[in-house]
Amino acid sequence: MINKKLEERINYQINRELYSEYLYLSMSAYLENNGLAGMANFMRVQAQEEHFHAMKFFTYVNERGGRVVLDAIEQPPVDFESPLAVFEESLNHEKIVTDLINKLMDLAIEVNDHATRSFLNWYVDEQVEEENSFQTIIDKLELVGGKGHGLLMLDKDLGLRVFTPPVAE
Ligand code: FEO
Repeated sequence: MINKKLEERINYQINRELYSEYLYLSMSAYLENNGLAGMANFMRVQAQEEHFHAMKFFTYVNERGGRVVLDAIEQPPVDFESPLAVFEESLNHEKIVTDLINKLMDLAIEVNDHATRSFLNWYVDEQVEEENSFQTIIDKLELVGGKGHGLLMLDKDLGLRVFTPPVAE
């Protein structure tokens, strides 16, 4: 049976991961609407990743005899200033998520829950990848000044991303 406080915090995390899915879908819609189908694809795949993150927590709570409680998902922003602003907001959002994962880990350590600590390691590693992925795109966008031929080249590259569910460990 999982610690009650941990269960509550994981339920909150499920809501944050589902909000992340919503946020990236909203960004995808904005990018699509602005002629950047490749970047829109990248964000759609990112949204799928966030759904996976949420469901991984969902399954874990059930496996530990806890109770999943789903809360309302807030509305994400609809409009953004530019493609660069989209990726900057994504990176800022991921930093907040990283902080939440770290706080979950702190709690798992505090209540001496070794299984949850082990489970959370996957998310700790995943957050390093997520932040790096957005930072790399921001760097490239800055390099090309966020417009012109460079922007279209980057859009083409990001159109190649496909969702690959991580192998169950
Ligand atoms: Fe689920 Fe992007 O963190």
